[in-house]
Amino acid sequence: MARSFLQVADFSASELSAVLDAAQAQKASPEGAHRRAWAGRTAFLIFQKPSLRTRVSFELAVRRLGGEALYLSPPEVGLGEREPAADVARVLARFGDAIICRTFEQALLEELAAHADLPVINALSDWEHPCQALADLLTIREHGGAAGRTLAYVGDGNNVARSLMICAAGEGMRVRVASPPGYELDAASIEAAQARAAASGGSVEVGGDPAAAVDGADVVYTDTWTSMGQEAEAKLRVEAFEGFQVNAELLALARPEALVMHCLPAHRGEEISDAALEGEQSVVFDQAENRLHAQQALLWRLVQ
Ligand code: CP
Ligand code: NVA
Repeated sequence: MARSFLQVADFSASELSAVLDAAQAQKASPEGAHRRAWAGRTAFLIFQKPSLRTRVSFELAVRRLGGEALYLSPPEVGLGEREPAADVARVLARFGDAIICRTFEQALLEELAAHADLPVINALSDWEHPCQALADLLTIREHGGAAGRTLAYVGDGNNVARSLMICAAGEGMRVRVASPPGYELDAASIEAAQARAAASGGSVEVGGDPAAAVDGADVVYTDTWTSMGQEAEAKLRVEAFEGFQVNAELLALARPEALVMHCLPAHRGEEISDAALEGEQSVVFDQAENRLHAQQALLWRLVQ
């Protein structure tokens, strides 16, 4: 069965590190041999939620590798509704070389991958956002390096947090996560990240105090309190996350040159202040650009 990237754990820490190495090399030499890696190949994009960065960066990444990207609109495909994911996967496997899918349930991605002999890439599910984590680690590498530095994630224990924690732990970072009660990451994901950290020389600590997490940190990261599909809970969440905003007061506890990171889209005035997002320490647009470079390297790696 073809190699898929449904979650960070599908790749070992050293494989992820090799993808990041390739991303750095391809970014530095855009006209390298990788330019033909996807020649004659086609990737299908199926997005059941809105997207700016992920869709654009994947389409461009496929094209930059010499391949073709075909966007299939959700009502046309009717994934899991008009027909089962297993049938969609087997049909698309006859026509092309990868499925890049953004959906709600991780199980749907697993179903696609289980029935198709082509790689399935998670372009965000409710469980993980592994391609975002690749771009984030690439950005951290570019801004002072990852290994041995402290990454504080403040906020919802969501898809972005889960992928980031596991990926950063594998890269040797000291990861601290602070979330309010009821919004923490699950124990199995924390254990998976701790296992990677034990092998890489990093560490993973999880708690409920943003100030303790950010104290002396090199990187401060947050994401929306209300993810796509959770809109009905927005009011409740704003109340639950009181005190978890990344702002000047919280950043004063981090190292003076600490990076401020956010996967975007941001909700200014909720999880992050406008000043923190727009400030000199912010690298959010580097993260956005690096989606392209990281995913290009991932797609390249999948056809080696
Ligand atoms: N960060 C991210 O995945 O952005 P989009 O939802 O716009 O793709
Ligand atoms: N946690 C957010 C990330 C958006 C890129 C969501 O799932 O909506």
